[in-house]
Amino acid sequence: MRLTDHIRRQLRKRLTGEADVVLVDRVPEIERAFEGVEELGLYLHLPFCRRICPYCPYNKTLYRVGLADGYAEAVIREIDLYASAVGDRPITSFYVGGGTPTVMLDHGLDRILRHVRASFRMKCAVHMESHPTDLTDEALAALLDMGVEHLSVGVEALQDHHLRALGRPYTADEVRATVARTVARGFRCVNVDMMFALPEQTVDEVVHTGRALVDAGVDQVAAYPLFDFPYTPWTRVTRSRTGGPAAVFTRRKMLKALEHVFYGAGFRRTSVWAFTRAGVSPYCSVTVPLYLGIGASGGSYLRDVFFLNTFDVGAYIESLERGRLPVALSVKLSRKMQMAGWLYWRMYGVRFRKRAFLERFGTAFDAIYGREARSLGRLGLLRDDGTEITLTDAGAYWLHVVQDIFSLDAVGKLWGTAMTTPWPRRVVV
Ligand SMILES: C[S@@+](CC[C@H](N)C(=O)[O-])C[C@H]1O[C@@H](n2cnc3c(N)ncnc32)[C@H](O)[C@@H]1O
Ligand code: SF4
Repeated sequence: MRLTDHIRRQLRKRLTGEADVVLVDRVPEIERAFEGVEELGLYLHLPFCRRICPYCPYNKTLYRVGLADGYAEAVIREIDLYASAVGDRPITSFYVGGGTPTVMLDHGLDRILRHVRASFRMKCAVHMESHPTDLTDEALAALLDMGVEHLSVGVEALQDHHLRALGRPYTADEVRATVARTVARGFRCVNVDMMFALPEQTVDEVVHTGRALVDAGVDQVAAYPLFDFPYTPWTRVTRSRTGGPAAVFTRRKMLKALEHVFYGAGFRRTSVWAFTRAGVSPYCSVTVPLYLGIGASGGSYLRDVFFLNTFDVGAYIESLERGRLPVALSVKLSRKMQMAGWLYWRMYGVRFRKRAFLERFGTAFDAIYGREARSLGRLGLLRDDGTEITLTDAGAYWLHVVQDIFSLDAVGKLWGTAMTTPWPRRVVV
């Protein structure tokens, strides 16, 4: 076993009580899984893209009209299979991710959203990912008509040579114009995704991109360092240029420069990677405590169980045609694991009330994590004012390093297997 694997297992054991997490090919008992769930988030995965980016770790496949129509039908069937178990529990967040949801604008998106509203008690706005090349004036109007109030645009960089290296099909000038048109439409929040720590990228280029986005009037910027996922073609080609220990310092330097730009413009940090304009309700994806995931590769977390749909679009559609839930893997989570998972995601959102932990687990936060919180406080990684915990900028950065060590490795193993095997028997992460 490699030294890093050993350290990872030991640390995980300390935090969660388990050295390994084992997912098996069991479909959980759905009515039981919802017991004690008072409200939940909804995630919908739409896996189609017009072309595939070499660095992208997400579950996606090339867009074909016929396949997208069949997929929309399958999503509607999956919603029907959950409708009675969800009942009238309020859905307090709804995130449509991908892939590229906007490629389905003319093929099923509207129908799916209407079916979601007819089947569940929706108490929230729609948050959706989009690709710049889909955002024509008609598309933006259609998205607003469908009730999409929070829109994210995958811009990635504002220098032509980086866009070319990433294989993005637009120029910096084109995407700048798209951002300007999108901002002018009156969405409640326009988020832009950008990536940094790209090969041969300079700090000046990163700062220029961040500043240009602020000046363009976007409400939020999510700035991710380019992560290496072992199963993407990009990593196989460029590992020596983007990975390695030097990347830790490059990322830190670039993130600090971005913090300077965003804080200077009055933005606040709303997650480890996202900065939001003052007074705007953030565009957000992953920070809901309990959620149901619909679509190929949709993941669900309901108190003591996590389950994951098959990643294979054909297998997903076929399973639903037979009236079967497309769940491929599940794992029952011990109380200690639930607490560790809760803490990780609340920290990812950079601030949380300690009372929320008490409400969820019936135990005081300090009784479980008080010692760790005090140690992290002494290191300057978080602030605890007695009622609320806030991650500092240094804390957000080190959480990213921990994420790189733990969750990206786990995601790499789990997704790497799920992407090649529609129905894996067992995955150990
Ligand atoms: C699903 S995509 C966004 C929507 C659309 N598919 C697009 O590409 O424009 C989600 C975002 O994840 C980020 N991303 C993708 N691959 C990444 C990687 N290897 N490392 C870091 N961020 C990545 C990009 O910023 C991308 O915009
Ligand atoms: S980055 Fe976006 S467009 Fe590119 S393959 Fe991934 S999901 Fe598709």
